[in-house]
Amino acid sequence: MLQKTITLKKNTVLKVKGPVSFTLEKGTIRVFGFEAKPPFKHVIPSYKSIPIVACEDSCLNMALGEGANASIIENDTVCKWENIVKKVLEFKKPLTIMVIGTVDSGKSSLTTLIANMAVNMGFKTSIIDADIGQSDIGPPTFVSLGVLDRQVVSLSEIKPAMYSFIGTTTPYRVIDKVIMSILKLLTKALSLGSQVIVINTDGWFKGRKAVEAKLQTILHIKPHVVFIIRKDSCIGEADLLYNYLNMFNVNVIVIEAPKNIKERSINERKSIRESLYSKYFYNARVVSLNLKNIVFMNLSVLGGRFLSKEEKDVLKDVLGLNPNIKIVHATMVDGNLIAIIKGGAVVIDSNVLRRLRETYGHVRLKVLSEDWEKGLIVSLLNEKFDEVGIGYVEKIDFEKDFIKVRTNYEGKINGLIAGNIKLMYDEKTGLVREWGKWSL
Ligand SMILES: Nc1ncnc2c1ncn2[C@@H]1O[C@H](COP(=O)(O)OP(=O)(O)O)[C@@H](O)[C@H]1O
Ligand SMILES: [Mg+2]
Repeated sequence: MLQKTITLKKNTVLKVKGPVSFTLEKGTIRVFGFEAKPPFKHVIPSYKSIPIVACEDSCLNMALGEGANASIIENDTVCKWENIVKKVLEFKKPLTIMVIGTVDSGKSSLTTLIANMAVNMGFKTSIIDADIGQSDIGPPTFVSLGVLDRQVVSLSEIKPAMYSFIGTTTPYRVIDKVIMSILKLLTKALSLGSQVIVINTDGWFKGRKAVEAKLQTILHIKPHVVFIIRKDSCIGEADLLYNYLNMFNVNVIVIEAPKNIKERSINERKSIRESLYSKYFYNARVVSLNLKNIVFMNLSVLGGRFLSKEEKDVLKDVLGLNPNIKIVHATMVDGNLIAIIKGGAVVIDSNVLRRLRETYGHVRLKVLSEDWEKGLIVSLLNEKFDEVGIGYVEKIDFEKDFIKVRTNYEGKINGLIAGNIKLMYDEKTGLVREWGKWSL
């Protein structure tokens, strides 16, 4: 650990890469629009870098960990950002601003800056965090609404006022859902009287499909201003989107990405998500619910036409199961015959396939064995049909009609929505980890 005292002249910028902890001894500084005075203390984790702007001559005491560094520069991208944002915030209210850029381009930082400057100017400000893979406000896999009542150094300080489940951390196949969720939260933000609403988007910005996904999002949300962050790795995409939007009357501003920032590896991104899950599962317990008394959405196993006991017996013969293997549940859904079996494995050979065709015609057979459901992420619904919490499935018992869900939500649960990620509690680290994906 290296201790340093750093003096900063007014309007210079200190670029700091973590891990660093510092105390502001004298003066005033700005971190993404957040104004701090002594005895402000802050910790920058190893996966982050920040620009500290001196509002006046200032002095900081710093402890730098391994791999950390701090250097003073005259001018930084963030100063240009501040000047542009200041002008944008003069626009008519309510004002919706969408931030677009690739991973590690500064989307969250720009979102923080806009929100802090808006709060500072006295506007009622909200953020819609639609970056489902690297969320700042709600848990990953959710689009979240945060309402600011003060400036924040980091968006993670904001408690979500409302959230909408997407169920996955990758946006490729769920753009429509993401758009619906943004619209839902936007309606809420406006009903709460928000004057400035900043919408942060996911970091999928590689290739034409990604550009089109962003066009679709803008088409439906119709923000008043679109910021595109232009980073070296997405110059083509940034220019393409800009040119497309210029064919319409869309107010679009291209800004440069910050330089010399700390980029996060895939593993770092995963562990950031896991610490967020862990926060939302803090003190979680297992709740048992009667399957007959709840609505369970988005789970194919619970859709379609359930097979009766007699039909399950027929299926058992078709599959050639030995007597100690049991079919606990089977359903016919969208041309799929899904069977959950207990007590052994099924060998699907040409005879089984022939019998299957003879009995059911053209169906796709999906056999799930015990524990198929373990860890499945779910969104929890209350009696008002609102999404009120996150959970993951511990057990679904079709014979006794119950489901066990781990969550720290304490109210009554009237419904669940299934997602595509599987979570588990890791005793060794005490973290809730992603360990697999679910799809059928
Ligand atoms: N002007 C800047 N100087 C130094 N670091 C910055 C600057 N702007 C952003 N960063 C840092 O760059 C990293 C990536 O920024 P972030 O806003 O998290 O990107 P994104 O949300 O697009 O993934 C973060 O550690 C952030 O604090
Ligand atoms: Mg981000």
